[in-house]
Amino acid sequence: MKRRIGILTSGGDCPGLNAAIRGVARAAYEMFDAEIIGISDGYRGLIEGEWQEMKRSQFSGILTLGGTILGTARTPFRNMRVIEEDNVDKVKAMKQNYEKMKLDCLVTLGGNGTHKTANLLSQEGLNVIGLPKTIDNDIYGTDFTFGFHTAVDIATDVIDRIHTTAASHGRCMVIEIMGNKAGWLTLYSGIAGGADVVVLPEIPYDIKKIAKAVEERANSKKAFSILAVAEGAMTKEEAKMKRKEREALRKEQGFVNISTRMAKELSEMVGVEARAVIPGHIQRGGSPSAYDRVLSTQFGVHAAELIRDEKYGYSVALVGNSVTHNKLSDIAGVPKLVPAEHQMVKLARNMGITFGD
Ligand code: F6P
Repeated sequence: MKRRIGILTSGGDCPGLNAAIRGVARAAYEMFDAEIIGISDGYRGLIEGEWQEMKRSQFSGILTLGGTILGTARTPFRNMRVIEEDNVDKVKAMKQNYEKMKLDCLVTLGGNGTHKTANLLSQEGLNVIGLPKTIDNDIYGTDFTFGFHTAVDIATDVIDRIHTTAASHGRCMVIEIMGNKAGWLTLYSGIAGGADVVVLPEIPYDIKKIAKAVEERANSKKAFSILAVAEGAMTKEEAKMKRKEREALRKEQGFVNISTRMAKELSEMVGVEARAVIPGHIQRGGSPSAYDRVLSTQFGVHAAELIRDEKYGYSVALVGNSVTHNKLSDIAGVPKLVPAEHQMVKLARNMGITFGD
C-alpha cells in the first residue's frame, strides 16, 4: 500500500509540532509505503506551491526541537475565499497544488483557524486530517491540545520566579499570560504558580474587586500579590464593546497591554508598588515537555493510522485517556472557552483565588 502524504504546520507555532510531525512520519514509514511532502509555511506554501519531498532522515532528531521544521504562517481563514490584490484564487490554488503533488492526503497541524481551512478543503473534496496544536488549548472536542502543557510549565516557572522577587519587595506583580480569547493557560498556570488573583477573558472583571483583594493582602503579613492575567482579559464595561472599540479605548488611555494598565491602576488605587511582567512568546518557545512529547507522538501516530485506514475528514483528539478523532465539520470553528462554572474555576474560588468579577 502506497500513500503520498502532504504535511503542513499553520498558525502560531508551539512546542510539540516537530514531535507530532515525527510521529506521523515514523508511524507512516513503519506501517505502509509512505512518501512525505513537507509544505512550507502552512497554507501559504500550499497556495504558492512551495514544498519539498522529505527524506526519512529529516524526521530524525526532531523530537525535542521547538518550533516547526516546516515553517509556519498565519493565513487567515476569513480571507481564504477572498480574491485579494494578487488576484489569486487561494482555494483553487490549494486544490491544484494538492493534485500537482499527487497527494493521497493532507495532514494539517494547527489551531482553530487552521482547522477551519482544513474543513473547507475537506468539503472541497480533499482528503484531510487535522492535528490540534496550540498553547491556548481552545480547540473543541479534545481535552488537550499539544503545546498547552509545555506553555503551562513555562508560565508557571515565570510565576514562581516572580513570586520570590515579589515577596522580597512586597510588590504587586501583574503577570500577563498569553491567551486572547481563552483563559486556559492563565487558569492552569495561575493555580500551579499559586497566584492570588486570576483574570480570564471569559470572566470580565471589576478593577475595584481586584484592588480590594490586593489591598487586603497589602495589609496582611504577606504584603505582596501575584496576579495572573490573560492578555485578552477585559473589564465588565469592555466586555460589552466590540474588539475594535476596546482596542481604540486602550489606545486612547495610552495602553497596549492589559498588564501595564492594571499595574498602574492598582498602584494608584491601593498605593502599592506594582509592576507588569510580560513573558510573551517565551511561552511558545523551546523544547516540548515530556507530557507534550508523548501527546504529540500519540496524535501523530493516530493520524498515520487514519491514513492507513483511509479515514479522512477528521481531527485527532484526546478524550479522557483515549486518543480518538472528531469529524472536522463538527469541531471546526467552535472555540473551546473556559466555562464560568468550570470545576477548575470553582476549585480556585474555593481556595480563595479572586477572579475580580
Ligand atoms: O494562539 C497562540 C497565541 O500565542 C495566543 O495565545 C496569542 O494571543 C497569539 O498566539 C499571539 O500571536 P502572534 O504570535 O501572531 O503574535
